[in-house]
Amino acid sequence: MTLTFANPDAASIPLHVVSKDAFADWRARQTDRTNAWLKAVGFQGGLGKVALVPDAQGLPELAVAGFGSEDERARDRFALARAQAALPDGTYHIANADALPDPEEEALGWLLSRYRFGRYKKPKPPGADLVAPDGIDAARIEAIAAGEALTRDLINTPASDMGPDALEQAMRDLAGRFDASLSVIAGDVLLTQNFPMIHAVGRAAAAVPRLLDMRWGDTGPQLTLVGKGVCFDTGGLNIKPGSSMGLMKKDMGGAAAVLGLARMIMAQDLRLRLRVLVPAVENAIDGSAMRPGDILTSRKGLTVEINNTDAEGRLVLADALALADESPADLLISMATLTGAARVAVGPDLAPFYAAEPALADSIRRAALAAADPVWEMPFHTPYEAMIEPDIADLDNAPKGGFAGSITAALFLRRFVSDTAKYAHFDIYGWQPTAAPGRPKGGVGQGTRALLQALPDLLGL
Ligand code: BES
Ligand code: MN
Ligand code: ZN
Repeated sequence: MTLTFANPDAASIPLHVVSKDAFADWRARQTDRTNAWLKAVGFQGGLGKVALVPDAQGLPELAVAGFGSEDERARDRFALARAQAALPDGTYHIANADALPDPEEEALGWLLSRYRFGRYKKPKPPGADLVAPDGIDAARIEAIAAGEALTRDLINTPASDMGPDALEQAMRDLAGRFDASLSVIAGDVLLTQNFPMIHAVGRAAAAVPRLLDMRWGDTGPQLTLVGKGVCFDTGGLNIKPGSSMGLMKKDMGGAAAVLGLARMIMAQDLRLRLRVLVPAVENAIDGSAMRPGDILTSRKGLTVEINNTDAEGRLVLADALALADESPADLLISMATLTGAARVAVGPDLAPFYAAEPALADSIRRAALAAADPVWEMPFHTPYEAMIEPDIADLDNAPKGGFAGSITAALFLRRFVSDTAKYAHFDIYGWQPTAAPGRPKGGVGQGTRALLQALPDLLGL
């Protein structure tokens, strides 16, 4: 499925976006017939309300989309996506683009509202189509929508079809499409190439663990993205209860997010060099599974006591981050569905992130606001370092007590990155629990559009 704008030359119905405040003025400029019709159907600009106004032949002459009040719109993103979902099939163009405070956000919301996951049953048709509003960068919005759709598709696909092998294939397809290269280190070669923790987490699964390494672009600043690719997380021997395991197909949400972001970057041909690292594994159980109490020696040489086999994400990321750090980048980002604690702290809607420098955090925060992709900064709180230091190894993967669980996971990752790295880490959820405008229930990207928006500032593009 492609999320694109309608051909501007196609016949299209003028769509007037009318807020509650603007309704009276707007109405004064319409014909008596339009006003009579809108009165009859009770349209007054309420958020998400729509109406088609017929001409004398009974054919649609214009459409209206209620834009509510600023307070109502502040309760969610993508106000115009409500109209996309409510209007009858057809092609529309916005007749009064100046009524939109942020035409790009609304146009993106419209495209995202057309997203369907149709792999396993015929989906509902995507519905109303939009001609790109004047003055927006339509190609950029389409590139963002395509990246987000990729992220959603990858997360929504269950582990039966999105194991480490299928995630590799998806990354190969993406690389092929944009002329990127992909190299793969898989199975026992992970041991000879010194990725012991990726191997330890993934070795009990039927599909062998692997490290996927994609590179694209040959000029400009270096951006390295690392995404957690745990295609299913049973918890390992510290097995999760069924209620916690049910959604764990989405534990490759970090990988899905960085691949979606990579797609946005490559489709726009941004002037940068991109590397995407995905440790792709399944945290499964068999006789070879790592055990509580085992001590692993990581790629970086730090030893890690496994006090909970369910804290597996930080292990695979640690080896991937260590590799990333061996070739310093201008910006290093990790994204992962890393902790339940992050959910408890901020819920499913906000992407908590950690930044090694205040200026980096500021830039991400500003960009997130502009991109309608909300984030919340969390602290790399150094005084908690002691919590991740056990007695007989360098690091503990699962500090007892669970205090500050998202922070201690972030501190763990930071140990594998140089002090000088411009590093940010996102502890995302990757799942929309109930449908919202532009975001159906299911896999969802978080932090990706914020990062895309921040790149010019962060990398001097
Ligand atoms: N993938 C989970 C984290 C997760 C759980 C993300 C639910 C989103 C929703 C991760 O591998 C995990 O199990 N983390 C444990 C760590 C703990 C054992 C230290 C957690 O958060 O409970
Ligand atoms: Mn886990
Ligand atoms: Zn996990």
